[in-house]
Amino acid sequence: MKIIGLISGTSVDGIDAALTEVSGEGYAVEAKLIKGITYPYSDEVRSQILALCADQPITLAALADLDDAIAQHFIQAIQSLNTDLSTVDLIGSHGQTLHHRPPAVRNGNKRLGHTLQLGRGDLIAQATRCTTISNFRVADIALGGEGAPLVPIIDACLLSQPDRDLAVQNVGGIGNVTYLPPWDRSDPAQSLPEGIKGWDTGPGNALIDWAVATLSNGQKTYDKNGEWAVAGTASQALIDRWLEHPFFLSPPPKSTGRELFGAAYAQQHWQEAKQAGLTEADFIATLTDFTAATIELSYRKFLPKIPTEILIGGGGSRNSYLMGRLQQRLPNATVSSTEARGLDADYKEAIAFAILAYWRIHNIPGNLPSVTGAARPCLLGELWQP
Ligand SMILES: Nc1ncnc2c1ncn2[C@@H]1O[C@H](COP(=O)(O)OP(=O)(O)O)[C@@H](O)[C@H]1O
Ligand SMILES: [Mg+2]
Repeated sequence: MKIIGLISGTSVDGIDAALTEVSGEGYAVEAKLIKGITYPYSDEVRSQILALCADQPITLAALADLDDAIAQHFIQAIQSLNTDLSTVDLIGSHGQTLHHRPPAVRNGNKRLGHTLQLGRGDLIAQATRCTTISNFRVADIALGGEGAPLVPIIDACLLSQPDRDLAVQNVGGIGNVTYLPPWDRSDPAQSLPEGIKGWDTGPGNALIDWAVATLSNGQKTYDKNGEWAVAGTASQALIDRWLEHPFFLSPPPKSTGRELFGAAYAQQHWQEAKQAGLTEADFIATLTDFTAATIELSYRKFLPKIPTEILIGGGGSRNSYLMGRLQQRLPNATVSSTEARGLDADYKEAIAFAILAYWRIHNIPGNLPSVTGAARPCLLGELWQP
């Protein structure tokens, strides 16, 4: 089937659209990227999203306008693929996360999570005349799950190796890990192996992007190839202090977002860095190495063992300073991009939502309770017919 997968992640850097050929039965699924593009948000929509993520209030009327505007951006992203939509079988659209509240225990009572992705699937289905699946996270949350991360099951199906375990680390705005035990994924009769794990490790690029945008007075949005970080020196003392945040010490399942690791958190860290006498470059280096340190800590604390192969996806895989720090912090593993195993690092998550849509229409559960903590496997996504 020809499927377009779409996502804009917590970085809010733009909408990734992946035209993908998906085939196979059950979890013996294969995906071939035909074409991928990233369609940027207008400055106005991007700053509105970032302001809402930083807890700025909004009226319901303005929220409705923003929802429409995000959907229109997703539709334009689809059109930018320049493909004949009558040949496309299905669209899977994650949308744009505006808010994510993990489940929690409050006063002895379990409170379900809550998550809000904008970019209406109904509008996408009507504009493209393609069946569209959207709102992938809510069914898992209704079953007590985190609703995130959803990609580990896809990592299992696309990257598992029969002879070794692996860690797959996504570094988007937020970071998340998948642990994959050895598994021969080529046999459709095989069920998924026991022991796949996954959780959000903490900040990925979100803090770095905030610092770069703030310190460059909006001239830059990210630290291209880690060039600013390379010019500085990371402060291990600050990193050690920042690692004491309870999120890093709490055991999985866990998920997070800009609610914890957003502008207010980054601003407070910049104050601490200035007090400690760090230069701007030192601060960028420290934030980048902090991302590496949160990943290292998560692996040492919560993985059954550290695999010898670690594959990195998402925009963070393009930051060579970050990749170098990860390699130094995990010296017994080989750290490389998912591209070393044939999976595009930029469009991996968009491809994942193409596959989750494929599973939805084939009635195959898309969540992994061992990752999200949901009570059971379930179908993910709302279905919109044109
Ligand atoms: N060449 C690069 N060098 C350094 N960082 C990069 C590069 N390309 C992308 N990034 C980082 O990756 C982020 C986007 O990553 P992405 O995987 O799209 O995250 P998300 O899923 O949160 O949107 C950018 O905001 C930027 O911080
Ligand atoms: Mg992105």
